[in-house]
Amino acid sequence: MLEGGDGVGKSTQRALLGQWLEERGYEVVLTREPGGTELGDLLRSALLHGGHVDARTEALLFATDRAHHVHTVVRPALERGAMVVSDRYLDSSAAYQGAARELGMDEVRDLSLWATNHLLPDLTIVLDLDPEVAVARREGAPDRLERESLDFHRRVRAGFLLLAAADPARYLVLDATRDPRELHAAIAGRVGELVGAP
Ligand code: TYD
Repeated sequence: MLEGGDGVGKSTQRALLGQWLEERGYEVVLTREPGGTELGDLLRSALLHGGHVDARTEALLFATDRAHHVHTVVRPALERGAMVVSDRYLDSSAAYQGAARELGMDEVRDLSLWATNHLLPDLTIVLDLDPEVAVARREGAPDRLERESLDFHRRVRAGFLLLAAADPARYLVLDATRDPRELHAAIAGRVGELVGAP
């Protein structure tokens, strides 16, 4: 799973990793949250472009999207032996709703674990970036979460780093200011160890 704040280059790295895995003969499913399904796209547009919702409603909507995404896309893909590379997963909820919205990281993570029937990724890559730099890199109109304060985005960043520090075996934290090709090489190296491919 690729995680990180907004505008850190997750989708570029997702595409490069997908291609790298395909070249090694794997079936690859590239997906994202929120979205990735028809219902997910509806939830995505409500969450990112709709009106104000309170923090608990927001957390439940992300968890709903995740439950449906795992049930309809992720588990079926894993069951047929495919590699799933997702742009965001449950750590985003722990960081955005748990840490930044201050609902509690453990509680929000538990909600996602219930929603996904405890499906955890083999590896989570955190593309770490100072939110001030991220704002400068962002293109297009900001969505509802991107419009949150710098402090909010600092709490998001700290949340991701806390999750990674608690379980270093399942996380790879990379400095997102590095050259995209260098980042890809680091990601491919770690994924290669995991899947036993050079
Ligand atoms: P998206 O455009 O997919 O990400 P990015 O801006 O990184 O390209 O936007 C998804 C937004 O939703 C992003 O601001 C993070 C937020 N989000 C949560 O708050 N909780 C979640 O559980 C997920 C999956 C995303």
